Amino acid sequence: MADARRSPADGGGFAVSSAQKQLAIEGGTPVRSTLLPYGHQQISEEEVQEVARVLRGDWITQGPAATRFERCMAEILGRRHAVAFSSDTAALHGCAHAAGLEPGTEAVVPTLSFLASANAVAYCGAKPVLTDVDASTLNSTADLINSRLSSRTRAVIAVDFAGLPCVAAEIAETSRQHGLTFIQDACHALGAQVEGKPAGALADLAAYSFHPVKAITSGEGGLAATDDAEAAHRLRRFATHGVEREPSRMENFDGPWRYEMQALGYNYRITDFQCALGISQAGKLETFIRQRQAIARQYDAWIEDEPGIRRAQPQPPPDADHAYHLYIVRIDMNELQATRRRVFEALRAENIGVQVHYLPIHLHPYYRHTYGYQPGDFPDAESYYSECLSLPIYPAMTEGDLQDVITAFKKILSAYRNRPS
Ligand SMILES: Cc1ncc(COP(=O)(O)O)c(C=O)c1O
Repeated sequence: MADARRSPADGGGFAVSSAQKQLAIEGGTPVRSTLLPYGHQQISEEEVQEVARVLRGDWITQGPAATRFERCMAEILGRRHAVAFSSDTAALHGCAHAAGLEPGTEAVVPTLSFLASANAVAYCGAKPVLTDVDASTLNSTADLINSRLSSRTRAVIAVDFAGLPCVAAEIAETSRQHGLTFIQDACHALGAQVEGKPAGALADLAAYSFHPVKAITSGEGGLAATDDAEAAHRLRRFATHGVEREPSRMENFDGPWRYEMQALGYNYRITDFQCALGISQAGKLETFIRQRQAIARQYDAWIEDEPGIRRAQPQPPPDADHAYHLYIVRIDMNELQATRRRVFEALRAENIGVQVHYLPIHLHPYYRHTYGYQPGDFPDAESYYSECLSLPIYPAMTEGDLQDVITAFKKILSAYRNRPS
């Protein structure tokens, strides 16, 4: 750790050398000597031992730990069924399949998300019909969804962007009125509650991720949750080659050896040693979310008085909480003599691992070339994209790490606020 951590670059109360004041991108001393990532897992030695115990046992592919993990997550999510997958991408694909998406059908998806939210629709041969997001919350709304419905629409996918829960009650109502399946990609909001219910609880199908930057991890991993037994059965079959093993569901049961492929499926199984980690992490979910929220409160307090940046999303409504998968700010270009790219590069040079989440889906070449989307199609998502920066946030971040982010930001903002153009 560079000494600069205890020497705020704005000069407040400390003697600051000119090398510390000078931006690292221009040859000065970086605020940190090593890169602070924007997200990182927190895995204890006991969890390492738990994984090792499973690895020494008989089951290392999907087995009893996967079943325990599914039960534990179903309880946390308040759902009747939870089906574990190898990733959230796979779980979303399973949800799209369970919703009956196929060639000739459509699903409405917000353009502001990670690609997997829309790709799940495309994997089924259906069309991802993208929508803009609400300029303030950055989430889908029932009105935005309604404006994109057609006779081909079968499903609606909503995302809890950055961890701020979407207006699920409204979206569920719109979906019900139009006979559509409501799929919630709730992977940013795992651990958030809305009106006393876990995020995703109002959707027909909700999908979650256990990637290391998410609220809890199993290395890679995902899960789909539902109250519908038939949908859960379709999800399970889909995750293992479309194969049916239950005699009463077979077309021709001719002996106990038989399994039948009844739908095109995949190998989307998670392993038991991943689930051993997942079970233990699930027990820490609440603590991890509180830690993320505490970091967000500290960022909030600093940003309030900092010209040139603002929170990208409002505070959650009183009956909901924000899971802070991401803490995102928007840069005010009118205040600074620098582009967002310059601010990003200057922060990286100070060893602050900021990120940009996300290039809107409609701007990716595949989506432009395949579906004809163009720049300008979704102005609110594009305006957000041009100004956003995600700051490091994860439970294992120390107070010193957090102060490094603030120190580096202040150093850069003050340099670019004062510099003549
Ligand atoms: C909104 C969203 N959906 C889906 C995914 C895919 O998750 P996974 O990496 O578990 O496949 C991500 C991953 O970052 C995501 O942010």
